[in-house]
Amino acid sequence: MRQTSKLSRLEVIAPGLTARIFELCDGEDDVIAIMATVAGELYHAIDGFDWVGFYRVVGKDVMKIGPYQGGHGCLLIPFARGVCGAAARLQKIHIVDDVNKFDGHIACSDSSKSELVIPCFGVNGELLAVLDIDSDQPAFFTKQDADYLDWLMRKLFMGKKS
Ligand code: SME
Repeated sequence: MRQTSKLSRLEVIAPGLTARIFELCDGEDDVIAIMATVAGELYHAIDGFDWVGFYRVVGKDVMKIGPYQGGHGCLLIPFARGVCGAAARLQKIHIVDDVNKFDGHIACSDSSKSELVIPCFGVNGELLAVLDIDSDQPAFFTKQDADYLDWLMRKLFMGKKS
């Protein structure tokens, strides 16, 4: 299935996670249904994930909250603000080991210590959303976690319309 023989750390922590997500989303074209499924599966599978959700691109340089699990998140994030905004603006994965050191970080919860944001691309490589994951542990996310989730998001959303 994946072009690597080695399971990522997250796949080791949560056996069957990848297969379950693909099975649940099999044949589904609705990106919101996929986002809701991903948020639920990731949040419940990994202990260090304190908040998991999507911010969807809804207009020029602006995102609104999509499906998520965890405490409430802010409803609107312009591309100019926060870790999510930076990831959307630069179309680049962001791993933040200490959210207090990220200039412009939007604090939705005091418990958030580190954060990972993955841009999600749909039809014609358009930016659909960002996947935002917060951890209550500092420096929780590794480059390998980011690569795995980036691969997963590309597989799930490639070619899909918002
Ligand atoms: N911390 C994010 C905002 C979203 S919440 O974490 C749910 C940011 O700085 O973009």
